[in-house]
Amino acid sequence: MVFSRLRSVADIGIRSLRMEDWALDRVALVTGGARRVGKAIATSLHKTGYKVIIHCNASRDAANEFAQELNCQRPETAFVISGDLSKDVVETCRRLVKEATEKWGRLDLLVNNASLFFLTPLDTATDHQWIQLMDTNVKAPYFLAQAASTHLHQTKGSIVNMCDIIGEQASPPLTIYGISKAALIMATKNLAIELGPDVRVNYICPGAVMWPEVEKEHHDVSFREEWLSRTPLNAIGTGENVADAVLFLASPSSSYMTGSCIRICGGRSLKL
Ligand SMILES: NC(=O)c1ccc[n+]([C@@H]2O[C@H](COP(=O)([O-])OP(=O)(O)OC[C@H]3O[C@@H](n4cnc5c(N)ncnc54)[C@H](OP(=O)(O)O)[C@@H]3O)[C@@H](O)[C@H]2O)c1
Repeated sequence: MVFSRLRSVADIGIRSLRMEDWALDRVALVTGGARRVGKAIATSLHKTGYKVIIHCNASRDAANEFAQELNCQRPETAFVISGDLSKDVVETCRRLVKEATEKWGRLDLLVNNASLFFLTPLDTATDHQWIQLMDTNVKAPYFLAQAASTHLHQTKGSIVNMCDIIGEQASPPLTIYGISKAALIMATKNLAIELGPDVRVNYICPGAVMWPEVEKEHHDVSFREEWLSRTPLNAIGTGENVADAVLFLASPSSSYMTGSCIRICGGRSLKL
């Protein structure tokens, strides 16, 4: 069964569509895939049949351990690449895609998950902070998409960009982070046009699915209570909630979606 020739779930019959039918031996690159949400995404993709390229930066040990676990489950199905997406961005992105595609000779899915997150109050924000956030959160996903585009055209693959409801609604002092995610949303929409019709490009806007490990003082108990009180489903989400959306956006079930958003936020974005 060749996914690239499928036009819809109906082509193969809904009852006979199993994830394994379309995902087996396809290759996904997940940036920031060693921990937290990225790890949940890579785990789900792997469970579905994908081979996964786990990109990491500082979490090299965690990435190796994770890849080893996946390779024990199915030999030769996980591979680690590393690179700082805020340094020599264009060159780094080209190298990462080269390493990723040389491993198994194809690329079907790019998940731009890696991201920097910190507060930038206006009175103390710096040029360096601006560059770090914009390079990691926008420039790198854009140039990874550029480097991957030939490979994705060949496989009629897709890109999923991890954005944020904070890219749609102002939330100072997460100002520069929010600007970076808003820019990534706009990059997604433009790339959906530039890479169509072969390559679909969509984005996910999570609300709170895992509380941040940084900025703990800002995200203290009262912040969390206040956040949840404005969340209709009154809970934070999980990495698996996000992974389910990635699977859907990568699958033939979303074959008529590009430039589109899925919000995984428990309804938090409905209320200011
Ligand atoms: N967690 C949430 O509730 C939430 C809410 C809204 C949106 N999101 C979005 O969902 C995605 C995943 O969220 P998360 O909370 O799991 O993210 P995270 O823990 O803040 O970061 C994910 C990974 O990004 C990588 N990264 C950061 N700076 C990098 C750099 N300069 N070069 C290369 N990699 C870098 C890190 O990899 P290493 O550890 O290997 O350095 C890190 O593990 C992000 O795009 C985030 O903006 C998350």
